[in-house]
Amino acid sequence: MNKKSAFAAAAAMSFLATNVAYADPQAEVLHWWTSGGEARSVAVLQEEFASRGGTWTDMPVAGGGGDAAMTALRARVLSGNAPTAVQLKGPAIQEWYEEGVLADISSVAEAQGWADVLPASIANHMMCEGTWCAAPVNVHRIDWIWANAGILSANGIEMPTTWAEFNAAAEQLQAAGITPLAHGGQAWQDATVFEAVALGIGGPEFFQKAFVELDEEALTSDTMVAIFDQMRIMRGFVDENFSGRDWNLATAMVMNGEAAFQIMGDWAKGEFLAAGLVPGEDFLCMSTPGEGFLYNVDSFAMFDVDGQDNIDGQTLLAELIVGENFQHTFNLNKGSIPARTDIALDDFDSCAHTSAADMAASTESGSLLPSYAHGMALRGAQSGAITDVVTAHFNSDMSSADAVSQLVAAVANSQ
Ligand code: BGC
Repeated sequence: MNKKSAFAAAAAMSFLATNVAYADPQAEVLHWWTSGGEARSVAVLQEEFASRGGTWTDMPVAGGGGDAAMTALRARVLSGNAPTAVQLKGPAIQEWYEEGVLADISSVAEAQGWADVLPASIANHMMCEGTWCAAPVNVHRIDWIWANAGILSANGIEMPTTWAEFNAAAEQLQAAGITPLAHGGQAWQDATVFEAVALGIGGPEFFQKAFVELDEEALTSDTMVAIFDQMRIMRGFVDENFSGRDWNLATAMVMNGEAAFQIMGDWAKGEFLAAGLVPGEDFLCMSTPGEGFLYNVDSFAMFDVDGQDNIDGQTLLAELIVGENFQHTFNLNKGSIPARTDIALDDFDSCAHTSAADMAASTESGSLLPSYAHGMALRGAQSGAITDVVTAHFNSDMSSADAVSQLVAAVANSQ
């Protein structure tokens, strides 16, 4: 029996009985969930895995957005020693599949009826040539503004609903000696802010053309110039020590009253919650100005590995990840919403309810869009090319016109 069919057989057997006890399921799990909120979240999976007899070998690779984790993964695969399960997402799943190193988890998916409980927009990312090749954990939204509620009320400021309002609020705060925008100068964080600004200024159709289709007209448009203009304004709102700062330290600045706002995906909410803060009271959430919803789905892919204990570990992990309990509890901690549509959100907070309602509305209106900055829209070389220009612009006095010229050239070179 080859490895893929051994995996399939193990998966099928696990559904003959519920909570089947495997001999000795093992999993070495590569992920980048190392902040307070993230660690609390992944612990849910570790505990469920252990309670079913599994032995979890943790391989955390620190670094927000996962760039360092992906470098570590490549090194492991190249040395012929892939981890059992890997936090992987978007087109990177299909890129690894094309290299012939992913296990087929269709048996688990079919036995558990994933197709019936996942929206098509999510399920599509988990498929490789008609087979299931990844298990989805959640839906993170990117286009959020987080704020310190006390700072805003003390300064008579409402959450901004346009970029002009955001700029006016930031100027007012700056004049009062408060850092308007908590930011960490790391390329992926620059890209996170950039795509929220791009969606807001350009709108959903523009975003789709520019960052999903890489349409040259959109990439060279006046709209793109206006987006870089706004990025230049945002650069003026960060403190002087922003370079290299981790995202969770930027979130802590908002928590501690050292800065008013942060533009970041809703893993930031996981940090606020881990610190015991309450949305609507201590901190505020609102989607960034403009239409649309930028989604980012965390998922795990299983790599081809030897040994029945590892294959059992993969089967068990896939089953647990899409299981109802994990989807509920993990996402309460992580700041995201469940990938499954059949999980009740009664225990979730107001930000999560906004996210779920906006996701449903944007699915209807065609404005549900994959995040380019978080690897959901483009292949790695392409998204990397865009981010290089975004970060070079943010960290220099490059004009918007020059940034646009460099963007087009970088995208062309990456194709
Ligand atoms: C992931 C999140 C993670 C964040 C910060 C994102 O790309 O989807 O799960 O919390 O990066 O590391």
